[in-house]
Amino acid sequence: MDSIFLGRPYRPRPEIVTPDMEILEDIVRIIYPEYEKGKEELLKMVREELTKKKGVKKASCFYGLRMVLKVEDLKAGYGGSEVLHGVSIEVREDEVVSIIGPNGAGKTTLLLTIAGLVRPTSGRITYMREEVTSLPVHERVRRGLVLCPERRRLFPEMTVGENVMAGAYLRNDKDGIRRDLEKVFEIFPFIKERWRQMAGTLSGGEQQMVAIARALMSRPRLLMLDEPSVGLAPVMKVTVFEKVKEIREREGIPVLVVEQDAYLAMSVSDRTYVIESGSVVMEGRSAELMANDDVKSRYLGV
Ligand SMILES: Nc1ncnc2c1ncn2[C@@H]1O[C@H](COP(=O)(O)OP(=O)(O)O)[C@@H](O)[C@H]1O
Ligand SMILES: [Mg+2]
Repeated sequence: MDSIFLGRPYRPRPEIVTPDMEILEDIVRIIYPEYEKGKEELLKMVREELTKKKGVKKASCFYGLRMVLKVEDLKAGYGGSEVLHGVSIEVREDEVVSIIGPNGAGKTTLLLTIAGLVRPTSGRITYMREEVTSLPVHERVRRGLVLCPERRRLFPEMTVGENVMAGAYLRNDKDGIRRDLEKVFEIFPFIKERWRQMAGTLSGGEQQMVAIARALMSRPRLLMLDEPSVGLAPVMKVTVFEKVKEIREREGIPVLVVEQDAYLAMSVSDRTYVIESGSVVMEGRSAELMANDDVKSRYLGV
């Protein structure tokens, strides 16, 4: 036996990792979030298990543990004025992570920097174990690091279909594109029905969903969404976020979402970062943050 399977076997895609301490910590942290008290014990157990089995060079743990995005001490801004003053965040496989914070805090700047549209002055961005800090945008998109920008930015004079297909412009795997389009139709059935309609004539919520569909057509391995619910009616906001959850659940695509509606963001995400004036001021499991008095009074209005 050259591998040990750890974790809940609910994902069919095992991921090979080396059995070093950092990963053991991750395993404990991610698989057993409820196991806080027995953490040391659990760690010891896993370590023993790994060393006991002779010939184990690699431990394999389930999809859901691997780091997808790691942003370290990121500083960035516009024309000499610094907006992000050393931001660090992480997203792992299988997570929906939200970023909340007041207007002007630097949330959009953070996503733009991760996407490669704003150049950082210092810090490091690692995506899928590869440093991408200074890769051009299209190279990031090609690797599946995809941003669905604020205010949707559809081409209003083009059809729904043309907008959706624009997401696949860097791809030439016809079969893959067709399969992904079928998935898009399953998640957003209205898109198939409105394929030839001008995008500008859709409702705000529909346009947002087309923008997400377009992002899906570029085959993201991390989907970043900037304020997907802005300007939408409350019911439509919920619908959009249900789709976000569906994308994570059906396609296993992790999502990093910036959202003004803090309640909505924390309700659908696993973890949340609170950004104020270009710095992360709080972070944690969303459910725990929602119960935090500070967060409640400042962001949830209760
Ligand atoms: N293109 C730009 N040029 C100069 N300053 C900008 C630009 N975009 C944003 N800013 C400034 O950066 C700060 C953070 O903005 P932004 O990242 O959009 O915040 P958020 O998305 O949290 O509302 C703000 O002070 C804003 O005025
Ligand atoms: Mg913004």
